[in-house]
Amino acid sequence: MLWQADPETGQAMSEDTIRDQVLSFSVLGEDTTKSLMTWALYHLSAHPEIQRQVQEEIDAITGGDQTRPLSATELSHLQVLDRVLTETLRITLPIPNVARYAASEETLLGKYRVPQYSIIVLLREITHRDPASWPDPERFDPDRWLPERIESVVPGSYAPFGGGIRACIGQGFAHMEALTFLSTLLRAADWRVCTCQRPPRSEEPSPRTTQNKKGCKRNTRRSCALACRGDPEGEAIDGWG
Ligand code: HEM
Repeated sequence: MLWQADPETGQAMSEDTIRDQVLSFSVLGEDTTKSLMTWALYHLSAHPEIQRQVQEEIDAITGGDQTRPLSATELSHLQVLDRVLTETLRITLPIPNVARYAASEETLLGKYRVPQYSIIVLLREITHRDPASWPDPERFDPDRWLPERIESVVPGSYAPFGGGIRACIGQGFAHMEALTFLSTLLRAADWRVCTCQRPPRSEEPSPRTTQNKKGCKRNTRRSCALACRGDPEGEAIDGWG
């Protein structure tokens, strides 16, 4: 596909264009989505009651099967997880600022003169936590995005994917990726914030894998972030090593 000619112009992309496109997609598409998924997992670990709601929603679809892949239609039914992602992008957004270059002189909002060639930076991390727009803005609250509350969201106060003609083209893809990844991790284990004071992984001895009494694999090096699902003693496990 990369080497094919455009059916209208008959022109193929140059190697430079292909390189630039691949670079944009990997930088803009990988780090951002990774950040979204990491923060979502962190927020869910810090809010076990919300994590449980997400797990119950997934279980209701899969019937408790921890391995069957979810179809695209099933993923679109994960409404709690969807709200978790939306809220994660509000409070811990991967791209906190977006800039625009003024090609010509403009007047914004009828009173702010913007000279030609100025650079305007939109501080999204400020608008996303502005108390004038968000009640209790520092609180992670996915229920802000419930259908009955969504109408009170102030227009323009939320734009993690930018806006206008240069808005992110990967929004749908990133969303699907995050739903797939998180629904897989969350149904296999309970997640919690690590409070141990372990040294960084590089300073630890090699991992040793054991099994806990429920048969879950336990990796002694990475045992602090995962817990066997439903284990009341919260014994930490690593099912991925
Ligand atoms: C959670 C994930 C993501 C976030 C938060 C995000 C956010 C953004 C933001 C804020 C912009 C700038 C928009 C503007 O200037 O108004 C942008 C642009 C862009 N994003 Fe994303 N992005 C994400 C995922 C992705 C993915 C997965 C891809 C590709 C597979 C992608 C491709 C792009 C491209 C190509 C642009 C430049 C668009 C242009 O300049 O016309 N992004 N993204």
